[in-house]
Amino acid sequence: MFFSRRLFGKICAAFGASVLAFHHGAHAILPSGVSIPTPTFEPVYDATLLLVPNVSQDLVAGLFGERAFIGFLGGNLTDYATGALEGQIIAGFGGEFGIVSSNGMFYTDVALAVQWTDDDKYGFFRVQGIGELGNSTYATSYTRLETDSTTRQNLVDDVLLISIAVDTENASSNETIAYFRLFMKNSTNPSITP
Ligand SMILES: *[C@@H]1O[C@H](CO)[C@@H](O)[C@H](O)[C@H]1NC(C)=O
Ligand SMILES: *[C@@H]1O[C@H](CO)[C@@H](O)[C@H](O)[C@H]1NC(C)=O
Ligand SMILES: *[C@@H]1O[C@H](CO)[C@@H](O)[C@H](O)[C@H]1NC(C)=O
Ligand SMILES: *[C@@H]1O[C@H](CO)[C@@H](O)[C@H](O)[C@H]1NC(C)=O
Ligand SMILES: *[C@@H]1O[C@H](CO)[C@@H](O)[C@H](O)[C@H]1NC(C)=O
Ligand SMILES: *[C@@H]1O[C@H](CO)[C@@H](O)[C@H](O)[C@H]1NC(C)=O
Repeated sequence: MFFSRRLFGKICAAFGASVLAFHHGAHAILPSGVSIPTPTFEPVYDATLLLVPNVSQDLVAGLFGERAFIGFLGGNLTDYATGALEGQIIAGFGGEFGIVSSNGMFYTDVALAVQWTDDDKYGFFRVQGIGELGNSTYATSYTRLETDSTTRQNLVDDVLLISIAVDTENASSNETIAYFRLFMKNSTNPSITP
């Protein structure tokens, strides 16, 4: 390229092309033909998750900080668009085993099992992310779904996110209620065109 970046920008502007790419720098670093789209996500399920009471106290001292031992008491997943029941969260399996680190952040580590309502098959989520556990309890986490439910193989094949808010205000003596939404990636995959 014989043009200076500034001159090239002027030429682009003259021909009506965007020079914004230069300000982001990405096109200046990645070779042409490399496409890394910004991932975008769309909502799939809304869920109510019941946890043991007083979750912010269920911490034990450990090597990396305080380790959560938070059991699940049940819950359900519903279709984001229609509100129809999709599955039940199975009580007594998995739980939240994340860590409250010395920086105060909560590094989630969840295993969650569900049974789908329409075909009675099972699903298993492994969830890891970041949030806080205390007066304000929330997290956004990456997850994958493992299931042989035939109508849900699009989710098995995709990157999923879970955003959760835990209601620590309305403490009940027998459960803690949390609400989460599950999202699937709907953007195109990275690619290299020779
Ligand atoms: C992905 O989902 C979001 C949220 O529903 C939507 O705004 C966006 O248009 C979708 N993108 C694609 C490529 O489908
Ligand atoms: C999901 O579970 C919550 C909490 O137990 C309950 O209030 C709600 O009615 C359930 N939704 C469905 C569709 O079963
Ligand atoms: C939660 O709020 C209480 C009362 O305001 C306060 O004493 C406590 O330190 C807070 N805990 C955390 C982890 O922020
Ligand atoms: C807490 O409980 C009150 C009274 O039942 C209710 O109005 C409020 O919506 C609840 N807050 C949350 C976050 O669920
Ligand atoms: C929850 O924590 C509060 C504050 O420490 C305590 O008073 C209460 O007994 C606890 N409830 C349960 C069910 O453990
Ligand atoms: C907690 O108690 C309420 C009211 O009795 C009941 O509706 C709810 O099912 C109980 N939750 C669990 C997890 O047993």
